[in-house]
Amino acid sequence: MRIHEGKLFLSYRDIHGTVARLAEQILSSGYDPDLTVAIGTGGFIPARILKTYLKKPILTVGIVYYDHNNTPMEQPRTIQWIDEVEKKLTGRRVLLVDEVDDSRSTLAYCLRELLRHHPAEIAVAVLHNKRKPKRDSLPAEVKRYFCGEEVDNGWICYPWDAEDIDRHEALA
Ligand code: G4P
Ligand code: MG
Repeated sequence: MRIHEGKLFLSYRDIHGTVARLAEQILSSGYDPDLTVAIGTGGFIPARILKTYLKKPILTVGIVYYDHNNTPMEQPRTIQWIDEVEKKLTGRRVLLVDEVDDSRSTLAYCLRELLRHHPAEIAVAVLHNKRKPKRDSLPAEVKRYFCGEEVDNGWICYPWDAEDIDRHEALA
């Protein structure tokens, strides 16, 4: 993990280690989710690595907040929502997984949507929480929040976004 030109570069090895620490926190907290819900697309790879440790099934939802120009939209928008997800939530313990808690808008939006289907409990797990003022807050129903690492506000370069992975890993 290294800062280069003001951006935080993370290697696949960094990510795996952060997920392992996150899993350790979840396991030692006593929270035993029935299933995880990954927020696409940033949450896909973290959720899959987490499954190595938690061994729980993954459902996915797709939500975008930044448009193709990489500027935030008015509010997050659902681009994929499987009806099957809703049926599987009622009365279950859910772990919502994403890569980064940035403005918190996407997370809060997604949590509100998922809570409509009355899970027994819903907890949040993110790899990174940016220390910054948030634009939204987590619903009061959310009692557990797991975070792999707190980071200073700034852009994080994840390995899965790299077009040149050799250059990325050399910088990370
Ligand atoms: P939050 O609730 O999780 O805080 O998210 P917020 O709405 O603020 O914005 C979420 C979008 O911004 C997500 O992407 C997320 O991946 C992206 N994002 C925020 N900060 C960073 C960062 O430092 N580095 C990278 N690489 N991405 C960041 P999205 O475009 O909505 O969807 P997707 O990229 O997950 O497909
Ligand atoms: Mg993104």
